[in-house]
Amino acid sequence: MNVRFAERSTLRAVRAYRDTESSNAEGSPPITFDLSSNELALPPLPSVLAGIEKGFPQLARYPDPTARDLTAEIARHLCVSAEELAVGPGSAGVLQQLLLALCGKGDEVVYAWPGFDAYPLLVAISGAISVHAPLTVSGGHDLDEIRTRVSARTKVVILCSPHNPTGVTIDHGELHSFLNSLPDHVVTVLDEAYVEFDRGSDPAGTPVLLREHSNTVVLRTFSKAYGLAGLRVGYAAGPRQVMAAVRKAAIPFGVTRFAERAAILSLRSEVELLERLAAVAAAREELTAGLRELRLPVLSSRANFVWLPLAWAAESFARAAATAGIKVRAYPGHGARISVGEAEAHRTLLTALDRRDHGDAF
Ligand SMILES: Cc1ncc(COP(=O)(O)O)c(C=O)c1O
Repeated sequence: MNVRFAERSTLRAVRAYRDTESSNAEGSPPITFDLSSNELALPPLPSVLAGIEKGFPQLARYPDPTARDLTAEIARHLCVSAEELAVGPGSAGVLQQLLLALCGKGDEVVYAWPGFDAYPLLVAISGAISVHAPLTVSGGHDLDEIRTRVSARTKVVILCSPHNPTGVTIDHGELHSFLNSLPDHVVTVLDEAYVEFDRGSDPAGTPVLLREHSNTVVLRTFSKAYGLAGLRVGYAAGPRQVMAAVRKAAIPFGVTRFAERAAILSLRSEVELLERLAAVAAAREELTAGLRELRLPVLSSRANFVWLPLAWAAESFARAAATAGIKVRAYPGHGARISVGEAEAHRTLLTALDRRDHGDAF
């Protein structure tokens, strides 16, 4: 039967998020270690788990629709006011709110590509059009290229530092000059999903950036360094008028009681966080060294993943990893990304790659 409906035109060109991927495709070897999503390979902190359990008896009740306690905690953490914040179901959820609040049909959103693979989808959902700028050869943002793509139609520019998928950060001086060069009608979102791996829990740069550049929004998440990807909680900090619009575009009760409690406790667990960050950095450096010993090209990363600029060999690299039961992310034509994982996962991967056939394309 033919169903008559009108899909938003920008949605026709995109697919649902990662719907072509199967965690266990038929005929493929079982996945022992998933190093494809930049999650933390550690369980949540014990204090956080205990806090979550306390919320179970209240499951019949809606959470606080404004996530007031978490907002207050983040405000203290970042030295900003609650009006300058919006929390939501993951930073992807908050970015979606921002794009829905600021963009519409015919508007453009500019960002570097390859980038976080939800950006094209979230832009399409808002009705706007994605405009891509290439990365530099060293995997960084080419801010000049991005600037040339900004036009009267541009509503939002998204920057990502450390960048997913390369792990390269944006230089502060260059960022300031870039932000100063933008016209007033453009809001810049600085996606800092991985910032703690680069700067620890030190939020120092953020309030200064927000004070100096009135059209800038910083996006953060509890999914990565804080290890709460499964709970879905993230936030944005920026000008109060923009944040008021972002809060309006939220799905009601989007942040669960569990997510709110866990995020508050995580922000109070500074010492444990720093220990974990040090362990991730050490594991990342070991993985980088191991891959380089195998004569593979690896960029120096400031995040919890590493990037191999393998261009079209990325897919055969991912297949070789899959044969050893390791899932990594291939970006055909660009490279492959490996999340920092368990020591055993790294050992298994490096051993499999060491035995690789000389006929392999990477
Ligand atoms: C750059 C970047 N931003 C945002 C996100 C979304 O994180 P979440 O929605 O879990 O907060 C991710 C997740 O992989 C990411 O890589």
